[in-house]
Amino acid sequence: MMNYADEYKNSIDNPIIFWQKQAKNIAWYKSPTQILSTNSDDNRHNSSQWFSDGELNTSYLALDHHIEQGRGDQIALIYDSPVTQTKQQFTYNQLLEQVAKFAEVLQNQKVNKGDRVLIYMPMIPQAAIAMLACARIGAIHSVVFGGFAAHELAVRIDDAQPKVIVSASCGIEIEKIIAYKPLVDKAIELAQTKPQSCIIYQRDMVQAELTENRDFCWQTLMKTAKAIKAIPLPATHPLYILYTSGTTGTPKGVVRDHGGHAVAMQYSMKTIYGMTTGDVFWAASDVGWVVGHSYIVYAPLIAGCTSILYEGKPIKTPDAGAFWRVCSEYKVNALFSAPTAFRAIAKEDPQGDFIQQYDLSNLQRLFLAGERLDPATYSWLKDKTQLPVIDHWWQTETGWAIAGIPLGIENKTTKAGSAGVPTPGFKVEILDGLGKPVAANESGNIVLKLPLPPGCLTTIWQNPERYKLGYLSTFDGYYLTGDGGYIDEDGYLFVMGRTDDVINVAGHRLSTGEMEEIVSAHHDVAECAVFGIHDQIKGQVPLALVITKNGANIDKTLLQAELRQSVREKIGAIASLKQVLIVERLPKTRSGKILRKVMRQMIDGEPYQVPSTIDDVSIIPELDKIFKKDILAI
Ligand code: COA
Ligand code: AMP
Repeated sequence: MMNYADEYKNSIDNPIIFWQKQAKNIAWYKSPTQILSTNSDDNRHNSSQWFSDGELNTSYLALDHHIEQGRGDQIALIYDSPVTQTKQQFTYNQLLEQVAKFAEVLQNQKVNKGDRVLIYMPMIPQAAIAMLACARIGAIHSVVFGGFAAHELAVRIDDAQPKVIVSASCGIEIEKIIAYKPLVDKAIELAQTKPQSCIIYQRDMVQAELTENRDFCWQTLMKTAKAIKAIPLPATHPLYILYTSGTTGTPKGVVRDHGGHAVAMQYSMKTIYGMTTGDVFWAASDVGWVVGHSYIVYAPLIAGCTSILYEGKPIKTPDAGAFWRVCSEYKVNALFSAPTAFRAIAKEDPQGDFIQQYDLSNLQRLFLAGERLDPATYSWLKDKTQLPVIDHWWQTETGWAIAGIPLGIENKTTKAGSAGVPTPGFKVEILDGLGKPVAANESGNIVLKLPLPPGCLTTIWQNPERYKLGYLSTFDGYYLTGDGGYIDEDGYLFVMGRTDDVINVAGHRLSTGEMEEIVSAHHDVAECAVFGIHDQIKGQVPLALVITKNGANIDKTLLQAELRQSVREKIGAIASLKQVLIVERLPKTRSGKILRKVMRQMIDGEPYQVPSTIDDVSIIPELDKIFKKDILAI
């Protein structure tokens, strides 16, 4: 029987043998013999390729393969939508039929291997169907989270240059109906690149207006569509582009391949989540985020599990028992969500009364990610559910967990506040600013020694230089995660927060740099700083400090409202920029760098150190007074 220490050591000492063995657990059209190689087009960037001479198709693996194994009548996907009072189940046979037909619909729209298809959808099964249909014909999908506004969508259209956009007439936010089509139209108007066509799933609540010769109705096209087969693809062929926030307003298109991704997904279901074929797995996330890609759509289906696609919230749809109701109704074996969701539940149901109302006998464990699982939420969940509560750490770039408790190998104990131990395949180290390893319990930059295991990003779409500069150049031979933290004496990792301008608002990864760009664009703003401050439910929320232009006759309340609205309009309501403070000056170093971290620590009540390079130290007590009066009082 393998234990964690042996499995981990094998994966690090002999990655080729290790991953060759794991690759045997998926069905290839042509098995790879070349396990790890360097991308010859891209060797300046030291980027590795997994399984480069193998051939497979992810859609085949997720659907056809199971049917060939006799699992066609097993439930593949459950759609549960409290916001529309809809419940629907798809067997593997039924899901395959939908996917194979939609693949033909795309083909009829002249979508070929390598073409991009942008998917902007609410949490309905058609989102997953469209993703799997793209994979089937070798088209590269780029799913954009439905909460992003038209401007964000336009930026992604220009970068991905999709031939087709797939969307729906509307999404539903608790009781609010959000019409998607006007947002798609606006984004196309803003974008330089125009798609050839749009396919719109018409929902009963809203009928979208279709532009003649450009827009088509999903349901109409599907009526005459014929199911088509999956095509064999090279393992290194891109499966998808998923945009994520970096430090600037231009999002980064993380590219993931078919082969490495499929092997990693299969390995992770067994090792990290302890799931086997036929188990019911629920990732309560959104298909627009990496968790949704990996653990609502691809991994559970590749592993032959039943996955749940939930169009609702942890609370208010209709109450704080929503998660437990779903777990009980579908006999969920493992639930994966974000700490923010459980903080929202705990606030409404502090005693966990709803938990007692449902039969949760099938639920074996809870997984959390998206932000650090704070010890208070960890203890609440453990106490109220009496289940193992597992924090695990990952990012859009890695596509699966870098650290966690790999239950499928060994039931190691969890530690409150820790994201667990490194996942086999990931060599996690902590380096100081100069690239020197630090001692146990000392904080520094969390880095991953190259090569990254299968399933991680292969590049940034259209921008390998940005991949190199952003991730591979800081410390030679390492991938920079952008997170800071430490490893304790037992090898447990503590991820304490980002070291860059990325913040995490209610599980949504956002760029404060981008918010600064939007705020500074206002004609009355001379300078600004946006950074994340602690929020009890959302983990973090942005705060903007603004200096107005000299001599401008400004209505401060109006300016604050305009700035809030402008971030909402450009990024989306999820940015949750609620607090805008007008100040006289900002703390800076003599070289002009704004001391955002010091301000964040002052507001969050953390110890802070004012650097000796500060330009004028008298600003600190001045700001302290302002923060106490205007922020801490809220
Ligand atoms: N489409 C359109 N608008 C959306 C949206 C979507 N998909 N998702 C969120 N929004 C809007 C909300 O309607 C809200 O708008 P409002 O300001 O007009 O009320 C705004 O964005 C903020 O929403 P949200 O971030 O969801 O905050 P909230 O206070 O409404 O709810 C939580 C708080 C914690 C319940 C909720 O954020 C949540 O369920 N988070 C979990 C997220 C998650 O699972 N992430 C995946 C990581 S694994
Ligand atoms: P995303 O790319 O949206 O998945 O966000 C990734 C970022 O979220 C990471 O770089 C971390 O900053 C944060 N994050 C995700 N999971 C965790 C976790 N378990 N603990 C601490 N931070 C996390």
